[in-house]
Amino acid sequence: MYADLKGKVAVVTGSGRAKGLGEAMAKRLAAEGCKVVVSDIGAPRGAEIPESAIGTSAGIEAVVAEIRAAGGDAFGVACDVLEEAQVERLVAEAVRRYGQLDIMVNNAGIGYLMKPTVELTQGDWDAVLGVNLRGAFYGIKHAARQMIAQGKGGRIINIGSQASKSGFPFAAAYVASKHGMVGLTRSAAIELGPHGITVNTICPNHVTTGLGAWQNQFFSAATGRSEEQYLADMRARIPMGRPGLQEDIAKACAFLASEQAAYMTGEAMNVSGGEEYH
Ligand SMILES: NC(=O)c1ccc[n+]([C@@H]2O[C@H](COP(=O)([O-])OP(=O)(O)OC[C@H]3O[C@@H](n4cnc5c(N)ncnc54)[C@H](O)[C@@H]3O)[C@@H](O)[C@H]2O)c1
Repeated sequence: MYADLKGKVAVVTGSGRAKGLGEAMAKRLAAEGCKVVVSDIGAPRGAEIPESAIGTSAGIEAVVAEIRAAGGDAFGVACDVLEEAQVERLVAEAVRRYGQLDIMVNNAGIGYLMKPTVELTQGDWDAVLGVNLRGAFYGIKHAARQMIAQGKGGRIINIGSQASKSGFPFAAAYVASKHGMVGLTRSAAIELGPHGITVNTICPNHVTTGLGAWQNQFFSAATGRSEEQYLADMRARIPMGRPGLQEDIAKACAFLASEQAAYMTGEAMNVSGGEEYH
């Protein structure tokens, strides 16, 4: 636990889907005593962002209710990170309700438009780059404006991936977006350091979230293995002998948000059981 997190205000995008990394980070920050804005897209958007893959309005409210039931403080805001005005409003809502913004977690992402590069459409590319990279840019921009105005520093935490460091087949747009996030993080860290704002990216390896479960099915079929064999092969190549857990990422998030990480910025920090070491 990090005593300095008590009373801090945190926004977590993409945190309204059960079993997601966003949900776990929101709950962990709330357990640390943060006031948490649980945000997600709330409703589907076209063929690229279907209802089956998102945190719905009901999902947002369920996470808020669970945080409150555990004694935490949270409220929900629907926000499509593809729309800059909505991200700006998300930050404004956090400030209206809680008076400030200290921690911005840019977690919203899509990782299910997987195809061979030669079949990838512009729509696929734009959706993935849009949510994963442009959405994180909007989050950084509007959180940083607020944090600079407050004059007390802040924490911006982006959720990258092992795909921020390594290539994966059928995932050109996803890998490009997550590599791009590392560059975005580094530039923002340089600009925001003088304001006491740190900007870091967490790079998880596989976690069986809703998205992760879809990826297990896709990659096992694409590589001609049963899902069981695919997961056994995954465990065999990870030095710690298991894939990541939501809580592993939530712990890293709390650490980066805390005073303990005050001198870390511009990092792309692996949380991968040793699977990724660059
Ligand atoms: N699960 C993994 O193995 C894994 C590994 C590395 C990185 N990640 C990253 O972690 C993050 C969370 O993924 P997850 O695995 O928890 O899956 P998830 O599907 O539970 O979470 C992704 C969330 O992003 C939201 N989202 C999608 N488009 C949005 C938009 N336009 N506006 C706002 N929200 C939007 C979804 O509604 C969903 O709640 C993603 O950025 C993902 O790329 C996941």
